[in-house]
Formats: sequence, structure tokens, C-alpha cells
Amino acid sequence: MSEKRILLIVGGGIAAYKSLELTRMLRKAGVAVRPILTRAGAAFVTPLSLAALAEDKVYSELFSLTDEAEMGHIELSRSADLVVVAPATADLMAKAAQGLANDLASTTLLATDKPVLMAPAMNVRMWEHAATRRNLATLTADGVAFVGPDEGAMACGEYGPGRMAEPAAIFEAIMAALGGGARPLAGKRALVTAGPTAEPIDPVRMLTNRSSGKQGYAIARALAALGAEVTLVSGPTALSAPAGVTRVDVESAREMLAACEAALPADIAVCVAAVADWRPADTSGKKLKKGSGAPEPIALVENPDILATLSRGARRPRLVVGFAAETNDLEAHAKAKLGKKGCDWIVANDVSVEGAMGGDDNTVALVSAGGIERWDRMAKDAVARRLADRIAQEFA
Ligand code: CTP
Repeated sequence: MSEKRILLIVGGGIAAYKSLELTRMLRKAGVAVRPILTRAGAAFVTPLSLAALAEDKVYSELFSLTDEAEMGHIELSRSADLVVVAPATADLMAKAAQGLANDLASTTLLATDKPVLMAPAMNVRMWEHAATRRNLATLTADGVAFVGPDEGAMACGEYGPGRMAEPAAIFEAIMAALGGGARPLAGKRALVTAGPTAEPIDPVRMLTNRSSGKQGYAIARALAALGAEVTLVSGPTALSAPAGVTRVDVESAREMLAACEAALPADIAVCVAAVADWRPADTSGKKLKKGSGAPEPIALVENPDILATLSRGARRPRLVVGFAAETNDLEAHAKAKLGKKGCDWIVANDVSVEGAMGGDDNTVALVSAGGIERWDRMAKDAVARRLADRIAQEFA
């Protein structure tokens, strides 16, 4: 990818520090990064840090004689293959949606004829404000692509959508947008399940679990980055859909199965969802009230096994991968699960390792009929990329 160039506009938000990491990742991948730092952005990261990581000059001023002499702002806006705005503040989005051109960043966005990718970052109320909704709709209609924002705890102490996507997610969206990198899974269809399921007891109560969905989302993103056409069937999570992935939202296991079957045919299925094994036998249409005395026990019935159903179905994907959480005898249990589920590989997750549940790292082993590969402890994103690479090998 050494010939690819991006113009990175760093806006003014606390998430600007993540753009330093993004710059480092891009440079490592051989992508040239030319940074524009807004005045507000410079309140969060220094031009020196950005210049050092980008290995290029930082542009900031619209009416700088030296900058204009070196590279006019029109040329700047056209010298890249892709313009990335990270963090894309509410202000930058508003300016771009209106076509304002009153500083270098907004002028560049108006003057560019290159694709634009924005990674929004702002307070949840600003993100949900009708004005930002309108700007988002306008920019989307104008062809701007978005990655994130994520939902989570914010620097301002609030919680909700508005947190900038993680550098790894923005990096992959950039690589996908640049169309560079190897795309060994181009033309292949992949189905990924992720997150928990929620099984209703009554209109306000449910049975669910603590799955964050992070690993499944990372796998969907990694497969898409290798060129696969990915459908992500997701239970309720706080994550935003990875760029270029079709997400289908479901709640219960039965809805998840129906959505998976609707996504067939597929070449690859990776079942990462933590599907509830059981659901209440009866779902009350009305909220259950406290009676007098002891509550009625909730009778449970078994849910369909999505992995086993896909593995044994008439339209079985060529490669079916399941996940298993094990605390002991990982290899034996995973091998038994291969047979029980009828899948090709089991990614066995050693949950006896501290921080495996809900954390950002995973320690896994890839178990197939042919044997077991133990992988070192690594970030969930790295597990996802490695698994996607192994899947691509199967289709080589
Ligand atoms: N799975 C599924 N549908 C279910 C249950 C599980 O698709 N109703 C899939 C999960 O997505 C995962 C794998 O099956 O890929 C996990 O299998 P499971 O039997 O639930 O294993 P564990 O969670 O490891 O539990 P146990 O060891 O108790 O069997």
C-alpha cells in the first residue's frame, strides 16, 4: 500500500489522542498521512506529536503564506486518495454539511473531489441533537462514509453513543475505503453472529447474558477488510456496525436463527454469539404482577442451536466456525464440541484467564479435526484478524 495517501483532518475533541495512534498504525502499514490540525484540535494534541508520527508537516492555517507556497489548499484537498476526519466534531460535521469554508479543514472538505470518511466524536446529547441528525443525513446523502461512533462511557462523564470508534476500527475502514491490501475473500459471503440474545419473560423482563459482542464485531470487520461480503446478525450490544458490514439486529435466539437462515447462502459462517440455551416457555403479553406468596417458577424450554442448525442444514456454508468458552480441558472439550455441533473449527476461548470475559484481550486455540493451534494472548481485534487470515487460507 506504499503508494496510498490519506489526508487526516484532526478536529477538536478529547478523542484526538486516538488519532495519534491511528496515524502510527497507518504509517506502519505504509500509508502516507498528511495531517491537518484544526485550531480546536491543537488544544488536545500538539502539532509536533502529529508531525512526528505522520512524518510529514502539519497544516493548520488557511491563509498561511508558507503553507500556500508549499502546497495550496486546493492542491492539499486533492493530493490524497481519501480524506479522513477523526475526530469529526459536531462543528466539523455541521460545516461540511452546510458547505462552509471558513478555515483550512472546512475549505479542504469543500474543495476535495476525493472520498471522505468521518469518525464522529462528541457528547451524546450533541450526537442525538436534531441538528446533528440532519447533518449526518445530509453528509450520508452527499456520499460521506462514517465509522462509529461507539456507545460507552465518555470523557465528560456521560454514557451513550458519541465516543469515537477505536483506532483499529477506523484503520480497517480506511483500508477498506482505499481498496488496498489483499482482498482474498472478495466475492465470498460471510455470516457472523455476535452479542448476547435476550429472551423475553414479559414486556419488561428478559433472560440475557453479559456478552459485549466485541469479538464477533471484530471478526465481521476483519472479514470485511479481506473483501468478504459480511452479514452480522447481532443481539443487543452497545457497538456500532462496522463500516461495510450489513448488520441485522435481533433479540431472541429464534430471531437470530431466522435472520441467519435469511442471510444464506453463505460461504463462511462464524458463530460468536452467546446464545441463551434456554428461553421462558411462555412469554406473558402483560407485565407479570407480584401476587401474594411465592412467585411462580419460570418454566424454560431449549432454544434452537444456531451453530448446529447451520452446520447440518441443506445450505451449509463451506466453512462453519464455532466458539467455545472453556475453563478446563480445553482441547478435549473443544474436540467433543466439534462433533456435537458438526462444525469445521472451534475457536476455544480459555476463560480461566483473567479478563477474558468482557475485556479487550482473548487467549484462544483453534481446534479442527486436524489438530489444535494455540495462539498467544492477544487483543480481540488481533484474534479477529488472525482468524480472518486463517479463513482466507482455506479459500486460497
Ligand atoms: N451456539 C449457537 N446456538 C445456541 C448455543 C450456542 O449457535 N443455541 C453457538 C455459539 O455461538 C458458539 C457455540 O455454539 O459458537 C458455543 O456452544 P455452547 O454449546 O453454548 O458451548 P459453551 O458456551 O462453551 O457451553 P457448554 O460448554 O456449556 O456447552
